[in-house]
Amino acid sequence: MASFAETPDPRLRTVLSSLVRHLHDFVKDVELTEAEWAKAIDYLTATGQKCDDVRQEFVLLSDVLGVSMLVETVNHRAGGATESTVLGPFHMVDSPPRALGDEISLDGKGEPCLVTGRVVGPDGEAVPGAGIDVWQANEDGFYDVQQPGTIPSNNLRGLFAAADDGSFWFRTVVPRYYPIPTDGPVGELLHATGRHPYRPAHIHFIVQAPGYEPVTTHLFVDDSQYLDSDAVFGVKPTLIRGFPTVDDPGRAAEVGLPNPFRTVDFEVSLKKA
Ligand code: BEZ
Ligand code: FE
Repeated sequence: MASFAETPDPRLRTVLSSLVRHLHDFVKDVELTEAEWAKAIDYLTATGQKCDDVRQEFVLLSDVLGVSMLVETVNHRAGGATESTVLGPFHMVDSPPRALGDEISLDGKGEPCLVTGRVVGPDGEAVPGAGIDVWQANEDGFYDVQQPGTIPSNNLRGLFAAADDGSFWFRTVVPRYYPIPTDGPVGELLHATGRHPYRPAHIHFIVQAPGYEPVTTHLFVDDSQYLDSDAVFGVKPTLIRGFPTVDDPGRAAEVGLPNPFRTVDFEVSLKKA
């Protein structure tokens, strides 16, 4: 720790000093063997080697160790606003722009679902034009980018703009639980520790508007398996919603869905920037 005492950047000094203190405590606590140390180096090397332009195994490792969720929570204390959760690896920087009411399920698989909602500020004021970026896995548990050529590109993705009263709506399918990628070192870790790789069913959202803090979050389906054992610890109780069935041919025709259909409503409350 003394070797870092003269680090000019005070934040770097704080972070490195604490890191060394905790790493040394860890090694002493478990009395790490030389073989274990070598295995750890091999493991981290393999984790790096698994990364490419579309795969980030280090983030996945951080996710299953609960570190991503902890960083997220430390940095975004909601204070009454909609709570945040992990971004995950399947967000696209350029989501396809969509009009309110559009259908985002392009492969037509799954139970039809109407998503409605409203974006509001701290005083309940509407946030017109707020950007609502949405993505989810298909009925088989895959994002489009995981099966290019099989799943149509931009399946179950969309970038919407809220109406003048802050409201939004779109058509999709009910999400299903799915496993995080297990064909790398993170999968090995889960296997060796008897942990399952599943995430409970969810729809991802990033909601943002000028003058407000963006929120990266999910909607979780209240009857999904794995709500109490998410492989990446992303579930917060305030983000769980029922997706009740609506049996109303008139309403189905009005929103352009077959009858019956499932539905969910999500009011997103943003903090001022
Ligand atoms: C996801 O929800 O897309 C996700 C989050 C963390 C790790 C893997 C997938
Ligand atoms: Fe996801």
